[in-house]
Amino acid sequence: MKKLKDKVSLVTGAGAGMGREMALLFASEGSRVVATDINKQGLEGLKKEAEAKGLDITTIVADISKEEDVDKMVETAVSSYGALDILVNNAGIMDNFKTVGEAANDLWDRVIAVNLTGPFKASRSAVRVMEKQKNGGVIINNSSIGGMFGVRGGAAYVASKHGLIGLTRNMAATYGVFGNIRVNAIAPGGVETDIQDTIKDPSELGSKAIGDKGEIPMGTSGQLAKVALFLASDDSSFVNGAVLTADGGWTAG
Ligand SMILES: NC(=O)c1ccc[n+]([C@@H]2O[C@H](COP(=O)([O-])OP(=O)(O)OC[C@H]3O[C@@H](n4cnc5c(N)ncnc54)[C@H](O)[C@@H]3O)[C@@H](O)[C@H]2O)c1
Repeated sequence: MKKLKDKVSLVTGAGAGMGREMALLFASEGSRVVATDINKQGLEGLKKEAEAKGLDITTIVADISKEEDVDKMVETAVSSYGALDILVNNAGIMDNFKTVGEAANDLWDRVIAVNLTGPFKASRSAVRVMEKQKNGGVIINNSSIGGMFGVRGGAAYVASKHGLIGLTRNMAATYGVFGNIRVNAIAPGGVETDIQDTIKDPSELGSKAIGDKGEIPMGTSGQLAKVALFLASDDSSFVNGAVLTADGGWTAG
């Protein structure tokens, strides 16, 4: 049986990388999927692929850092499909490894807005729907090993991803323990996606702090989509408040 049969999922940042693979995998497991991104072209490509495969994916251009867009995407899931069972807060941006001393206000503000405040607002809209549903819901936050260790990104990225893990645990301990909404985080290590191309002007000090950690195992978006599927499905029904590291062992040593 399909693992997400009759579920309604919302995946942010689904125009590329891990979010795209999650949207396709969730739909192939029986979910109706609302896929959002600021990348219109990416969403058009996803829509075409979904149609070719007979998968039910609705795409919406939405900026996670804009409250009206966040509300719109949750409303669309509910108005189109009558429910919201799974939210994946996946959209995220990097920060060129900038140190505190180097980080300009607009870099800090943008990274926090996309990586932390966006997931907070999306989760707020989602729990208000999920709380009223008989079967509750599931929220998955795509954090990073930068959310667990100090130098796997710059100051803003690391702070935003630590914050996202804090938000995950807070929601898990309230809505998971006293309600019916499970909330977990994924902490990917290196994954081959377009995000690597956004590192255009890396900080010298920030890069030095990251240092030579030996060869970094690189995963694929498909591998991470399977981690998300586990957390989205009933296979993980007793997993709540967890941070699932998926880094090929990079941080194990
Ligand atoms: N690739 C890695 O090595 C890695 C490692 C750890 C964590 N992560 C995290 O995984 C998540 C997915 O990253 P990815 O590697 O697939 O990157 P990606 O760049 O391939 O995909 C991210 C998507 O998010 C979208 N996005 C960016 N800003 C947005 C906004 N304001 N509103 C809506 N969408 C927006 C982008 O347009 C893009 O399509 C991110 O949160 C990232 O921080 C990635």
